[in-house]
Amino acid sequence: MIIAPSMLAGDFGRLAWEAQRADRAGADWLHLDIMDGHFVPNISFGPEVARVLRPLTRLKLDVHLMCCKPEVVLEAFADAGVDSLTIHVELGDRVTQLLWKIRSLGRKVGLAINPPTSISQVQPYLDKIDVLLVMTVNPGFGGQPFIHEVLPKIEHAALWRRDQKLLYRIEVDGGINLQTAVECAKAGADTFVSGTALFKHRQMGRAVRRMREAVEAVTKQAGRKQDDLSK
Ligand code: DX5
Ligand code: ZN
Repeated sequence: MIIAPSMLAGDFGRLAWEAQRADRAGADWLHLDIMDGHFVPNISFGPEVARVLRPLTRLKLDVHLMCCKPEVVLEAFADAGVDSLTIHVELGDRVTQLLWKIRSLGRKVGLAINPPTSISQVQPYLDKIDVLLVMTVNPGFGGQPFIHEVLPKIEHAALWRRDQKLLYRIEVDGGINLQTAVECAKAGADTFVSGTALFKHRQMGRAVRRMREAVEAVTKQAGRKQDDLSK
């Protein structure tokens, strides 16, 4: 189980301090939301921020590109030392080439899908990715409510992974708090991006620990059920 605080909910006046706060809190990845003002109606930050943060934290840097032209920044992010690069399936016929480019840069390959997009759109790429990012809000802003209608997509992604013996992570992003993280874990998610619920918590370490315990309890319970069935 991976817990990935999203910097979008951090204090932009002291990003370095916020990254180290996530690190001290016991998180696994640091999620960086890159917005270009076209793919989504908001602008965040670029590769230079990743470059500055890289030496300041041991967390893996997980870059979520909400951009119409991710090809413009892929190399710069790779040079900055990030660990994974995720592009959106909504980019259509450019997706294969972009995934290949990320692989060739030696980074983990991620593919994201927006709430209104059919899960069938990601099917052709499942054997080419390390992470499937299922958006649980419409991207662009932090602090939005979780969209429950997305849960069946997570179940589909988990079934395909099992049936095709694939290994991609199922990452959820948007409106993730203690309760919705548990719902996503039950559906099959294993990687939890959370901005507001973690960064706005006065004791981030406590929030991370509780989220981890809650989602791990779901897996243990599922394991026990499986054992009972095979007895
Ligand atoms: C939304 C971003 C998310 C966002 C999540 O466009 O992709 O990563 O930061 O923030 P919360 O957890 O506040 O919904
Ligand atoms: Zn994100």
